[in-house]
Amino acid sequence: MSPRPCLFVVLAAGKGTRMKSALPKVLHKIAGQSLLAHVLQTASQMGGDVAVVVAPGSDAVKAETSRIVPRAQIFEQPAQRGTADAVLAARPALAARSECDVIVLFADTPLIRTEVLGALRAALDAGAGIAVLGFRAQNPTGYGRLLVDDHGELTAIREEKDASEAERKIDLCNSGVMAFRVPNVSELLSRIGSDNAKGEFYLTDAIAVGRDHGIRATVVACDADDVLGINTQEQLAEAEAVWQRRARSELMRNGVTMIAPETVWLSFDTQIAAEVTVEPNVFFGSGVLVESGARILAFSHIEGASIGRGVRVGPFARLRPGARLAADVHIGNFVEVKNVTIGEGAKANHLSYLGDGSVGAGANIGAGTIFCNYDGFNKARTEVGDGAFIGSNSSLVAPVKIGNGAYVGSGSVITKDVAPGALALGRNAQEERPGWAEKFRIMMTRRKAAEKK
Ligand code: UD1
Ligand code: CA
Repeated sequence: MSPRPCLFVVLAAGKGTRMKSALPKVLHKIAGQSLLAHVLQTASQMGGDVAVVVAPGSDAVKAETSRIVPRAQIFEQPAQRGTADAVLAARPALAARSECDVIVLFADTPLIRTEVLGALRAALDAGAGIAVLGFRAQNPTGYGRLLVDDHGELTAIREEKDASEAERKIDLCNSGVMAFRVPNVSELLSRIGSDNAKGEFYLTDAIAVGRDHGIRATVVACDADDVLGINTQEQLAEAEAVWQRRARSELMRNGVTMIAPETVWLSFDTQIAAEVTVEPNVFFGSGVLVESGARILAFSHIEGASIGRGVRVGPFARLRPGARLAADVHIGNFVEVKNVTIGEGAKANHLSYLGDGSVGAGANIGAGTIFCNYDGFNKARTEVGDGAFIGSNSSLVAPVKIGNGAYVGSGSVITKDVAPGALALGRNAQEERPGWAEKFRIMMTRRKAAEKK
């Protein structure tokens, strides 16, 4: 770890027109979290200060910045005049931290990892004044090319539009991520001009300008995946795929079993313990914690839920926010659980809606049970006691409490609390008429015969 403090300058002022979306580009999500948040989180894991550069008036981008890094400084870049101009918008932050390494990150490049940033800082520790993250592109079109001399020193970065035929053949590309250890970053960047194809102030020109002042620049190589820049919806989906692949691999390395990992979707904050099995086609939305020994069976959709040790969920289960399953609970097919705490060993194995309430330990919720939690205006709670037994096809009309160990007869509509240990029947008593069927058939046969005449 580098001993020097560091300042991350995150550029997020671009318009992102190619996304064809009203949402600012950096607020689009991968793994359920904004591109900006991914970058900010990586930066704060590195333990540096953070400055974010945004377009004027971008309140949503500012709010997202403060949500993730409350102490981040936010600067507006008055007009989009290029990446060097963008970094200079954070001039006050740069001036206040003259002793810091400065690392420039793009908010639309969310897959950057701390290991890679560590390697970049190591290049500064080894004596470089500027270190640039570069990668070999299969298709370098659109990227700045890294011009390296015979000694491996970086001499300049050429933007595609300004590159010669020969320079365009170079496949070593600029990721955009750049680290500086120079006496005065602002001063260096203010020497950059805009005499180029786009008439912009290019941050990439810092290499050539620095060289004129005896500042040595170097390239640190990384995987193309680490610096995938997102400009289009297709690239957004590509980045999502890379993120998912990485996250699944990490879980499997930590002891999670996945039968078909490529079909399991994870969120940025999904936590799954070792010894958990996840069957194919499972979706994890945000806020899910799965404890050891649980089994998530195929085609389950889970968000905002905590799943205890040894629990079995699915196949085809839906757990929504506030589903809290204690150890050894069973939630079976076509069961939806929302905002319900379920006690140890309780079971709801088939076709139920459990919304807003609690189910005690060891309770059994029969097939087709519904917690009627909503009257069109308000939500109310259903509380089922420990060891209670809810017969199939029952409606529990909230607010209502079923006492410990009580039974509810199948097909009941329960509108009043049931005492512990009682049997509640909320349905018509069964009536039986001996011999009725035979009489009925005879009567109907005669009637039909009479009609034909
Ligand atoms: C930039 C690099 C290019 C590199 C590529 C990698 C420059 C001049 N070019 O090109 O060498 O290969 O990234 O993806 O740096 N931004 C602002 N204000 C501005 C302009 C840009 O904040 O005035 C931000 C954007 O929001 C974005 C980042 O800077 O996060 C990069 O800008 P973009 O226009 O996408 O640069 P590229 O043309 O892709
Ligand atoms: Ca870009």
